[in-house]
Amino acid sequence: MKFSLFLGCVAVSILVVASGHTFNSTLDEDWKSWKSCYEKQYTQDEESYRRMVWEDNMRYIKQHNLEHSMGKHTFTVGMNQYGDLTTEEFNELMNGFFQDAADNSTEEDDDEGNGYDEDVDDLESDEIEESDDVMKYRKLDWRKKGLVTPVKKQGRCGSCWAFSVTGAIEGQWAKKCRRLVSLSEQNLLDCDTHSYGCMGGFKLSAFEYVKENGIQSEKAYPYIAKQSHCKFRKDKIAARIKKCNKVKKGEQNLAKALWKHGPIAVSLNSHPRSFHLYKQGVYSDPKCTQRRGHAVLVVGFGRENGINYWLVKNSWGTHWGEKGYIKIAKNRGNLCGIANYGVYPIVRKYMCKTLASSNST
Ligand SMILES: *[C@@H]1O[C@H](CO)[C@@H](O)[C@H](O)[C@H]1NC(C)=O
Ligand SMILES: *[C@@H]1O[C@H](CO)[C@@H](O)[C@H](O)[C@H]1NC(C)=O
Repeated sequence: MKFSLFLGCVAVSILVVASGHTFNSTLDEDWKSWKSCYEKQYTQDEESYRRMVWEDNMRYIKQHNLEHSMGKHTFTVGMNQYGDLTTEEFNELMNGFFQDAADNSTEEDDDEGNGYDEDVDDLESDEIEESDDVMKYRKLDWRKKGLVTPVKKQGRCGSCWAFSVTGAIEGQWAKKCRRLVSLSEQNLLDCDTHSYGCMGGFKLSAFEYVKENGIQSEKAYPYIAKQSHCKFRKDKIAARIKKCNKVKKGEQNLAKALWKHGPIAVSLNSHPRSFHLYKQGVYSDPKCTQRRGHAVLVVGFGRENGINYWLVKNSWGTHWGEKGYIKIAKNRGNLCGIANYGVYPIVRKYMCKTLASSNST
């Protein structure tokens, strides 16, 4: 199995030698299998540069995980499909969240949410710290309630904003209409004229688009990781929203909104290299400041090895992090600015009916 993986790449090491760089030859096999695994193909010129960057990331990973084994970190890093990119390249390519200029949304004014109260058995009473009612619950995972679709992959396109928005709508739609439908990021990428497609976008503008038009399903309007002309069809709408609410800044407010409503679209800092190469555990790099740049979906919270975390669904595929998810340290001074900018849509029950016959695809 492993052997057959390498067969296609025999010619590659010759190119590396030809470039004049000296690479760590003990990593030759790893490099080959990594390229094969992620279907990387380079021009001759590019190959040696990418190998250099990749080796640097390999050294970084080795060092970090060594420190982790000595108890210095609460998370590990690992090689993934982005391992041939420098931190700068990665950020340029993948960050696509712009702060919304005109922010007229209301804050937390919807009382319809019936929360997660059926799950009182998740309460770990010996661990109660926070005094606030909602805060006594230590665990929340909306995946278990069927509000979260499988992890998606934005590819080489700064479209995180669209994934964050579809994720939040999918959650509310499933909660109100009892049907989990994967929704179309491409619909937003092509049709939200206030955003910039793969160059980045605005969550509020995308929500506004869906409020005005509705949104098609992933199946009916599939993702192609580049902006194209708008092919939206009114007769194929799969979900609608009434409006969109903003969550008040702060981790307590985020926890409450998450508990009460469901998955919340947030923006955060994903700039550090440790974030790009995150593998497992509770992410707690102090380098993750409050700078924004990336949009994701918070789907729960929990506790691991004595550290509270936010459970976050990313859109970098399942090979990244914990099967596409990251646990970000919770109540650690708003790490990565996770609680600065949360939004969620409101779906009304009557909206489910109007679409019952039209979302077969
Ligand atoms: C080459 O890589 C191996 C495996 O990571 C490592 O043990 C070794 O120290 C590296 N050698 C050099 C010269 O960097
Ligand atoms: C937000 O409110 C301001 C002032 O009320 C208004 O001029 C602007 O058009 C609004 N923006 C949006 C996106 O609704």
